[in-house]
Amino acid sequence: MKLYDVYPLFDINIVKGKGCHVWDDKGQEYLDLYGGHAVISIGHAHPHYVEMIANQVAQLGFYSNSVINKLQQEVADRLGELSGYDDYQLFLINSGAEANENALKLASFYNGRTRVLVQEKAFHGRTSLAVEATHNPKIIAPINANDHVTYMPMNDLPAWKAELEKGDVCAVMIECIQGVGGIRLVTPEFMQGLRELCDQYDTVLICDEIQCGYGRSGKFFAHQYTGIRPDVITVAKGIANGFPMGGVLISPKFAPVYGQLGTTFGGNHLACAAAIAVLDVMKQDALVENAAKVGAYLMEELKKFPQIKEVRGEGLMIGMEFEEPIKEIRRRLLFEQKVFTGVSGTNVIRLLPPLCLSMDEANEFLIRFKKVIE
Ligand SMILES: Cc1ncc(COP(=O)(O)O)c(C=O)c1O
Repeated sequence: MKLYDVYPLFDINIVKGKGCHVWDDKGQEYLDLYGGHAVISIGHAHPHYVEMIANQVAQLGFYSNSVINKLQQEVADRLGELSGYDDYQLFLINSGAEANENALKLASFYNGRTRVLVQEKAFHGRTSLAVEATHNPKIIAPINANDHVTYMPMNDLPAWKAELEKGDVCAVMIECIQGVGGIRLVTPEFMQGLRELCDQYDTVLICDEIQCGYGRSGKFFAHQYTGIRPDVITVAKGIANGFPMGGVLISPKFAPVYGQLGTTFGGNHLACAAAIAVLDVMKQDALVENAAKVGAYLMEELKKFPQIKEVRGEGLMIGMEFEEPIKEIRRRLLFEQKVFTGVSGTNVIRLLPPLCLSMDEANEFLIRFKKVIE
């Protein structure tokens, strides 16, 4: 059987990882400034992570959500403590899109409405309502185009107000730092205004923290730069360092109703062991603080390159926008300098390394980057 060919692939077979480095099947080492698309949070093959998963699978990999799973409560307790959302409730699923589907479903159960506002250039996933909420007509199939969603200009509060005051908006869904959209940031004033409007019109404020959350921005959540608390927060990617997992953090104002949300695999024992290991390492190694420190240094150094039009981001979520398409720079970084990076559109390189990136590794990246750019 052939694989269904959905991605253009680099001809590289990665077989091993350690910390911020990966190796191909020929033994070639690469510096990982991509983190497998913002997924590797605590670094590849962290010994505590390996041990927790190995022990758990030897004990019990999976059992049904119809019985108590104490590991889920352990994830919730540790996440509540580290994120500052101890008073919220946690629902666990398996991916980012699934987290957003459940967040929107919850919002609609809550206020009975069906309209959603998202930012222009938003990316919220590839499943039914999540893809409709994604501002890219090429990936919205006719079956997903159901007129629920309005795409709104970023940070333009009067435009959002004009829609919200119609009183029919179920939810607004915001990436405080847009990932796929090119590392664009909301302003605190916009988020504070939006919070007030959502309260006024009983609209649910959802922050999609799937890419920008879980320590990546140098705070646990990117919205914590804006001084607001959303009603619902969605997480995935870094939450289990590559083990498929997603989560929805739900404000106490939502009362759970049996049967409204559910899942077979979500929050299974193995996923929880991975998630607990991630939270352990994030706390022990102060990875949020590390992301803030190393990210600030990287941004400061990158701003010195006159070849880059603009450097944007927070923590270890950094976008470098060029006047020209970056395809060749990225290709040379990968094949000549052995550095993995990400991309957004045609002109933006995205850096999304593991949160344990050291100052030495940041400097190593700058040396390799300089060789390509100069
Ligand atoms: C902001 C954001 N939301 C949602 C998703 C979808 O996550 P997943 O691919 O796990 O479904 C992504 C994935 O890139 C994302 O960046």
